[in-house]
Amino acid sequence: MEIKKISVIGGGTMGNGIAHVFALKGFDVNLVEMNNELADKALKTISSNLDRQVKKNVISEEDKTNTLKNIKPVAGIENTPSDSDLIIEAVYENKDVKLNIFNKLNGIIKEESIFASNTSSISITELSVTGRPDRFIGMHFMNPVPVMKLVEIIRGYSTSDATFNQIKELTLKLDKTPVEVHDYPGFISNRILMPMINEAIFALMEGVASKEDIDAVMKLGMNHPMGPLTLADFIGLDVCLAIMEVLYNGYNDSKYRPCPLLKKMVAAGKLGRKSGEGFYKY
Ligand code: NAI
Repeated sequence: MEIKKISVIGGGTMGNGIAHVFALKGFDVNLVEMNNELADKALKTISSNLDRQVKKNVISEEDKTNTLKNIKPVAGIENTPSDSDLIIEAVYENKDVKLNIFNKLNGIIKEESIFASNTSSISITELSVTGRPDRFIGMHFMNPVPVMKLVEIIRGYSTSDATFNQIKELTLKLDKTPVEVHDYPGFISNRILMPMINEAIFALMEGVASKEDIDAVMKLGMNHPMGPLTLADFIGLDVCLAIMEVLYNGYNDSKYRPCPLLKKMVAAGKLGRKSGEGFYKY
């Protein structure tokens, strides 16, 4: 089966970016949201992100027009076209919500199609119990999707070689770089990134250095584009805490214990950029 028709479930931060990159490469994309209003909102975001690419001369005005033509908004997952060759789920990071969606889609979508999740931390193997485990895989795009080159491709316990190879080829068609990762908590990206951020928060809590100096060490000393505390604010402290808990519970290893300061800040509603305050004020 050649993958031509893609249905992206969820048109939020990641879903609209995923729809954008597939449509730009000429794939037929269904962008599935909970209702018409949210689907239209996602299309508007894609349109303004395409405008930015036109202004930067990354794409032409014609590319923008064609990209938008390739995206069809769909309201309600029950209306996801059954002839979709690939489903990419990008809804909230909640296992029950995702299981419910895959369960429903399994009854709708043609048998040979592949199901992928963009989850950043939930086990692909555990999601694949909803059906077709050999055709179930993780496609973990990075934010912002139109800019970032990496896609972690996560093989669940039963993911077949055929499925893996097809998704790897598809990723290359998007001009992105696939890496092969096995299904363990945090995959590679978050298993390495989050303990680094968590350690920076421990260093702050213990008074080893100020937040500005901790960030400066990693930016100027290690050439990271952003310091870890700035990055934590950008990602959202609640998201950082949830991922540390996935690592901690998944490995039962104290090296992944979430920093008490991180827990306290989340309890206080200091979630970073999205709440107006985290380690810094916005
Ligand atoms: P988001 O909250 O921006 O978007 C989620 C979207 O899913 C919302 O627009 C919501 O209306 C929609 N949705 C929820 N239930 C739905 C349903 N039943 N049918 C159709 N649409 C539905 O979330 P975001 O940040 O885009 O994250 C999505 C997934 O991507 C999560 O699993 C997250 O862990 C993962 N991820 C997020 C990254 C990030 O930097 N934000 C990076 C990499 C992965």
